[in-house]
Amino acid sequence: MSTHSLVKQYFALVPPYFLHLPPPLILIQPDNQECLIQHIFQSSLPEPGPTYRRQFWRRIVGYLEDVLRRHTNEDDASEIDVQEQGREEEGDGGDPEVDERIYSALADLMALPLEHEETSYRTFLYPLGDTEARIILLEDIAVIQGGTTGLRTWKASLHLAHHIHLNTISLPPGPIVELGAGTGFLSIFLAQRQREVIATDLDATDGRQAPLKRLQHNVGMNHVEENVKVTPLDWADSLRPKSERPAVWEELTSRPYTVVAADVVYDPDLIPLLVSTLRILLHVGSTAVVSATVRNPDTIDTFVRTCEVSGIDVEVFRLDVMPKDDPTFYDNGLDSSCEVQIMRLTPSSASMLSKESEGQQEMMNECK
Ligand SMILES: C[S@@+](CC[C@H](N)C(=O)[O-])C[C@H]1O[C@@H](n2cnc3c(N)ncnc32)[C@H](O)[C@@H]1O
Repeated sequence: MSTHSLVKQYFALVPPYFLHLPPPLILIQPDNQECLIQHIFQSSLPEPGPTYRRQFWRRIVGYLEDVLRRHTNEDDASEIDVQEQGREEEGDGGDPEVDERIYSALADLMALPLEHEETSYRTFLYPLGDTEARIILLEDIAVIQGGTTGLRTWKASLHLAHHIHLNTISLPPGPIVELGAGTGFLSIFLAQRQREVIATDLDATDGRQAPLKRLQHNVGMNHVEENVKVTPLDWADSLRPKSERPAVWEELTSRPYTVVAADVVYDPDLIPLLVSTLRILLHVGSTAVVSATVRNPDTIDTFVRTCEVSGIDVEVFRLDVMPKDDPTFYDNGLDSSCEVQIMRLTPSSASMLSKESEGQQEMMNECK
């Protein structure tokens, strides 16, 4: 566990009680504290909100002070002294201590008035070629806000991106459409790999907060507008006659798009709409990759059965889980006890899928 991985966790808003910390004897070393200071205090990345920063630095200071307390204890002194001895020989001596700049930053944060925060920046740093790529997102602090779940990045997205990053899942060449893109994490990640993506989600309706505006904002912040087109798409429109659907449906069925979707299988009431959408988009012979967090196995089973009766074959990928220790993308602990199931969906028979018949729709509704 390196100091840089702690920097990655800080920007990804890993809750302080979930942090994977370098051993205290390593982190207390002045050059490692300097690394934290440089890569956090002097970073050009947007900072997490003050509440998170306060909690983070309290945890770090507590952790370091604990090792110093043990240092003054004769039993442990020998251990830390061995580490320090080498440094003194290099002329870098003195007792280890918490850097003044860390204390001072924490004091400033503790002095801030406690204010209600609705949003925070969350940045994912990950290796891409010879560089470290960044995905910067403005996210809501609340898990569900204004009736939508689309203003936070969910575990299923991070896991799917991890497997695409490792090439354990490969998406066919050609354009991609993301359903329920939320904050845009996955679409931005794909754009950084030079893929052309249409990122879709709900637009504002009936006064509820819609993710589309945030999606557009996040795409702009990452400068991937050339590769990511943000477009409203409501799965409910799949039930309307073809001639009454918004123009995007025509565009998405004019040529094969690979469909990606993460954490869209969570509400049994949405499954018929989602599967009906997939049926229409896949009928031109394309593939979908759906990443689902298994909170309730019955919901996933219903989704798979609904796909199958609608002429969509479902294949579950057998994949290693993303390592918790130094993963490609740090999770924020939401759904930490749930596994992620990633599925490949393909049309089982082109002739069956090309018919958007009422009979098929009825079959799907029976599965509700
Ligand atoms: C749990 S969030 C997942 C967001 C994102 N894919 C992620 O993994 O971080 C579910 C997403 O599905 C979208 N959604 C829900 N119902 C929808 C519908 N009828 N049509 C289109 N998108 C919908 C929500 O707006 C939300 O962005």
